[in-house]
Amino acid sequence: MNGMTGIPIPRPLRGAAMPDLPPARGARVEFDRISKEYGDLTVLHETTLKIEAGEFFSLIGPSGSGKSTLLGILAGFVPPSHGAVRVDGVDIVAKPPYRRNIGMVFQNYALFPHMSVAENIGFPLKMRGCSRAEIGERVKRALAMVRLEAMGERRPAQLSGGQQQRVALARAAVYDPRLLLMDEPLGALDKNLREEMQEEIKRFQRALGVTVIYVTHDQQEAAFLADRLAVMRGGLLEQIGTPRQLYEMPGTHFVASFLGEASLLPVAEIVSREGRLATVRTAGGLTVQAFAPSRVSERRALCLRPENIILGEAARGRDNHFLGTVEEAVFTTGTLRYRIRLPGSDGVITVRVPSHPGIELLSPGTGIDIGWDAAMAVIIAED
Ligand SMILES: Nc1ncnc2c1ncn2[C@@H]1O[C@H](COP(=O)(O)OP(=O)(O)OP(=O)(O)O)[C@@H](O)[C@H]1O
Ligand SMILES: [Mg+2]
Repeated sequence: MNGMTGIPIPRPLRGAAMPDLPPARGARVEFDRISKEYGDLTVLHETTLKIEAGEFFSLIGPSGSGKSTLLGILAGFVPPSHGAVRVDGVDIVAKPPYRRNIGMVFQNYALFPHMSVAENIGFPLKMRGCSRAEIGERVKRALAMVRLEAMGERRPAQLSGGQQQRVALARAAVYDPRLLLMDEPLGALDKNLREEMQEEIKRFQRALGVTVIYVTHDQQEAAFLADRLAVMRGGLLEQIGTPRQLYEMPGTHFVASFLGEASLLPVAEIVSREGRLATVRTAGGLTVQAFAPSRVSERRALCLRPENIILGEAARGRDNHFLGTVEEAVFTTGTLRYRIRLPGSDGVITVRVPSHPGIELLSPGTGIDIGWDAAMAVIIAED
């Protein structure tokens, strides 16, 4: 793989027509009952997924869950074992990667060290047999897009990591692909630079209207960037939705704890249920008013987000109110993080309250009112 378009281009594609302005709108992508096996090992179970034109779609999940496999099937490096992949309604499984017109950006951006920035960006155009004038014009535009107008003549080694990643982005987008795949593109950058590049990528995607499929380990990055995201686990899409849906209404224990922090209390019994409101008894013996999504599985738990729990006097008027005990109190940037032991035997839950000068950190051992409304305790499936 040459890393930059990611696509092994065997020879110059003479005469491949370059569409001119305006920039292409995004492509529509459809995985139709796609699966992948290596011998006896299924690394991607039958997967059907539709991604809209111009959508920013993110795949997240732990290492080995199949994210790069799914991306590789779309790019053409990984032949699927079954199923079809359609781009704008056309099955592309039989097409070689370099005919798919898909831009790629990877973690190790793999710029050619002996070429200037401008030559790196122009390379995919050269391979496609574009004229020098056209290459010059498009490279100039691409450099402006990633705000590196002044750096065209430099070598990659003379750029910072973030600037190199911008060059990789420009190179992937220089021929106006309608679909851009990114696999951990910011993995090599430090936190501040990552955040800066996230802004850049988002701006870039909105400006071009290109469809992006973006793989990351970083759930915050995915939540910031994506219109929708899918959480992958063991070769399956465990849940798909907007970042907010997945955070606020996780379907499973796995999704709840993969996205953000969650305290999970096993549910022993649903005592009663009226529409979406349920009264449940936890395994630790508490009676709790909770939110019940339409489908509730046999094995279930309550999912509580740390910022939705209220401490102190204000907890008393809530649907659920208990007397807890502080076990641990820590200052983290912006919030005070508590571990609070619940009455009964459910154990401790995590609570975060905004920190500001003057607020006192409760000391371990303190008894404290703790409460939350029914809507803040979502019933989810246990693993
Ligand atoms: N050529 C191969 N032969 C056998 N197994 C493979 C091959 N390529 C990938 N796998 C397996 O497929 C599974 C999914 O791999 P994949 O690269 O898609 O994971 P991932 O979600 O991208 O992980 P990471 O976050 O670490 O990049 C892994 O268990 C991996 O070991
Ligand atoms: Mg991967």
